[in-house]
Amino acid sequence: MNTLSLPVRMPAQDATTRVLKRGERLLEPDVYLLPMHGVPAVVKDYGRYRRTPLAPLARMLVRREARTLRRLRGWRHAPRLMGRVGGLALAMEFVPGRPLSEGQGDDGTLRRLRGALAGLHAHGYTHNDLHPANVLVDSERVVLLDYTAALRVPRWLRRAPLLRELRRSDLANVLKIEQRITGRALAGRHASVMAAPRWVTAVRDVWKRFYHRFKGRTA
Ligand SMILES: Nc1ncnc2c1ncn2[C@@H]1O[C@H](COP(=O)(O)OP(=O)(O)OP(=O)(O)O)[C@@H](O)[C@H]1O
Ligand SMILES: [Mg+2]
Repeated sequence: MNTLSLPVRMPAQDATTRVLKRGERLLEPDVYLLPMHGVPAVVKDYGRYRRTPLAPLARMLVRREARTLRRLRGWRHAPRLMGRVGGLALAMEFVPGRPLSEGQGDDGTLRRLRGALAGLHAHGYTHNDLHPANVLVDSERVVLLDYTAALRVPRWLRRAPLLRELRRSDLANVLKIEQRITGRALAGRHASVMAAPRWVTAVRDVWKRFYHRFKGRTA
């Protein structure tokens, strides 16, 4: 359900629209910054899939991300959902931050990033796509973006090995970001978090082969 009455189609682009990112790879949205109801909004738009065989999948991605953002409403480390724009786009709060990159990696920011991830896991979600472009830093606020691949886990399943692995993998991604930013090597417990168990590497290899074949067919 939309909290604001948003248009049912992506508004035509004009001088007030800024392209933040062009979707180039399979099922990537175009991402725009534009005013909605007088405030700057970010719109993730899968409109280029309209009337294509991939439209149902694109709709599902929009529904999933909107549902996740709705459930995380009020949590300061996720952008606030404004609503869906028809079936193929969603609008959210514009966070006026910068992607996490070198120069911003002070210890306070990195601590807040780890805290944000712990908070997300405590909400019962794994993110599954953490990398610097999906983390915005807005002075004291660290915001995790891009919940397309996020997974919500029912409480009774949270200790299952696969879900523990997804949480480990999220943490490994955060540690990788920290390592890249600070140039410091990881030691002890953190170094072991980076090493995926053997069964995980095997499943991931099979998935990658399947995914590349699928992409080869549909691209
Ligand atoms: N709420 C926001 N506020 C400010 N900038 C944003 C916001 N959402 C997205 N962006 C910018 O747009 C970029 C792309 O957005 P996002 O990561 O959600 O999409 P994507 O990676 O293309 O999508 P997907 O992984 O779902 O295919 C982000 O890296 C960020 O720079
Ligand atoms: Mg992204």
